Amino acid sequence: MSTKRKSKSPEAQVFKPDKKFAKTTRISSMAQYKRMWKESIDSPSKFWAREAKDLTWQKKWSKVLDWKAPFAEWFVGGKINVCENCVDRHADGPRKNKAAIIFEGEPGDRTVLTYAQLKREVCKFANVLEANGVKSKDRVIIYMPMIPEAAIAMLACARIGAVHSVIFGGFAVDAIVDRLEDSGATTVITADGGWRRGKVVPLKDNVDAALEKYKGVKKVIVAKRTGQDVTMKRGRDLWWNEECAKVPGTHKAKAFDSEHPLFILYTSGSTGKPKGILHTSAGYLMGTYISCKYIFDMKDDDVYWCTADVGWITGHSYIVYGPMANGVTQVMYEGAPNQPDFSRFWRICEDLGVTIFYTAPTAIRAFIRAGEEFIKPYDLSSIRLLGSVGEPINPDVWLWYREHIGGGKAPIVDTWWQTETGSILISPLPGCTPTIPGTATLPFFGVDAAIVDETGEECKPDESGRLVLRKPWPSMLRTIYNDKPRYKKTYWGDFKGLYTAGDGARRDKQGNFWITGRMDDVLNVSGHRLGTAEIEGALVAHEAVAEAAVIGRPDDLKGQAVVAFVSLKGGKTGDDALLKELRNHVGKLIGAIAKPDDLHFTPALPKTRSGKIMRRLLKELVATGNVTGNTTTLEDPTVIDNLKRILGR
Ligand code: WTA
Repeated sequence: MSTKRKSKSPEAQVFKPDKKFAKTTRISSMAQYKRMWKESIDSPSKFWAREAKDLTWQKKWSKVLDWKAPFAEWFVGGKINVCENCVDRHADGPRKNKAAIIFEGEPGDRTVLTYAQLKREVCKFANVLEANGVKSKDRVIIYMPMIPEAAIAMLACARIGAVHSVIFGGFAVDAIVDRLEDSGATTVITADGGWRRGKVVPLKDNVDAALEKYKGVKKVIVAKRTGQDVTMKRGRDLWWNEECAKVPGTHKAKAFDSEHPLFILYTSGSTGKPKGILHTSAGYLMGTYISCKYIFDMKDDDVYWCTADVGWITGHSYIVYGPMANGVTQVMYEGAPNQPDFSRFWRICEDLGVTIFYTAPTAIRAFIRAGEEFIKPYDLSSIRLLGSVGEPINPDVWLWYREHIGGGKAPIVDTWWQTETGSILISPLPGCTPTIPGTATLPFFGVDAAIVDETGEECKPDESGRLVLRKPWPSMLRTIYNDKPRYKKTYWGDFKGLYTAGDGARRDKQGNFWITGRMDDVLNVSGHRLGTAEIEGALVAHEAVAEAAVIGRPDDLKGQAVVAFVSLKGGKTGDDALLKELRNHVGKLIGAIAKPDDLHFTPALPKTRSGKIMRRLLKELVATGNVTGNTTTLEDPTVIDNLKRILGR
């Protein structure tokens, strides 16, 4: 790979694809990429009909797309079983004895599941779900550690047509209750606990507490992981292993419509209520499958590792569905990257011969901070491709990643996408796209992305604007669960016919997309999406709090840190004890990731005369120490000086 440095600006540092890599990959020239991309846009039916042949259909579709904006149906008339595509077709063929999952627990225990073994476990669990009354379209909450059972549970739901909704294991009781209520779930799958930084996360206890408030759950199935005592409620709670012992290891995968709902995944938006993003079967599978094939260049001898958690979309699309549809061998790791120290990942990579490694910039920044001594002892020469996801990657972090993890040669695919998009939409192709640190480069097949201004007009090259998509794509969200009006308004309401991603971006003269980050009230903390309104809601739920405003500030490690401004009831002033209590209170309601990093007590918040909190001013105050923007709409201008004093400016 050659490095051409034209000027000091990192934007000018172009990394051309490696010729050797190009020789073995599926798309090896820009001409080929451009031809295929053009076909995918101009003749989507032809393009997708060809690609869809890679999947196993129980009945072939009759029409590739039915688009009644903003509602899409893909592969209309087709019947498919997503689980069969991820498991059976490998287990029943030459990949039968190939490792599907190499699992490593945080304490160091290791389990390998071949595709044949995975099929047996998934079939058993599908039988368990059916024996316990779970039917097609029923909603099943999965709240588990990063153990193979999490993937097995998801695949078993897909197999019987039940709709899973995975809740990240770091979320706390109230977050579980919200999701139970919104989804109307009748079954919960969990574990006694999970290991995190040497401690047990009490998952079953959290479920018990949530079920005190939500009464709609009939069965709770509990996998044994940590072995601590948990309360099992008679008639409701069942042990995973005991249930599996009662059923056969075979199960017939039924055919479901292409548009059968596959899962709901909750994500943060501009309001306090998380949105249940609904994905369906064939289109989602197509998107995750094809992106793994071309962007991650998955081959039969690869050992792939995505370090995400199954509780987020990256874990859904790039641990469970995409990689398994490709029949790849993958690593699954339960714990924290620094347990017992920051060499954990690299030891696993060396030991298992990882070839494709996919992680988030926030993790890379933590490794940079920890120091190279944790990496140096390990042989990472098996790694041939690196991926990044979740937030913009700074050019110096990109360069460090390539140098220290990629041995100065592995291509990096900086992949832009969202919970809503289901699969990667903007990314380099590793064998042909020239990369520049900091840009996710070019749209993937079928993706018509653009940058527009406030009026919806396309921006000129290098002009900043909003990132939009002009055409439907197979793995797009179909709606917000039970809330079509919110789906229409949030994603398709800004400009006619355009999907707004909520991200700011610009496109350079070569057509590369440079994503700058969220433009709405969504924070990106360590690659996790959090709504400021959710955190404000949690703070206000505390008896001492009258009002709260939450904003993000740039943070070297997390990308963004959470800053809260709080006014207390009765004009009281807060102290350190209350500060600690409020942070813990947020942790208890939402989860530790949402705890404010900074919390300031203030007698008043900056508001407009109509009573709206002006978060823009708080953001500017925290970032620069001053307010330069328009303050004429402020109800009480003295608030700003007061806040400056509080912030010590
Ligand atoms: C951000 C995660 C820049 C973006 C897959 C998006 C990125 C949000 C990138 C979605 C990237 C994700 N470069 N920003 N490569 N990837 N983002 O739903 O702001 O958890 O809107 O999905 O993450 O976060 P979500």
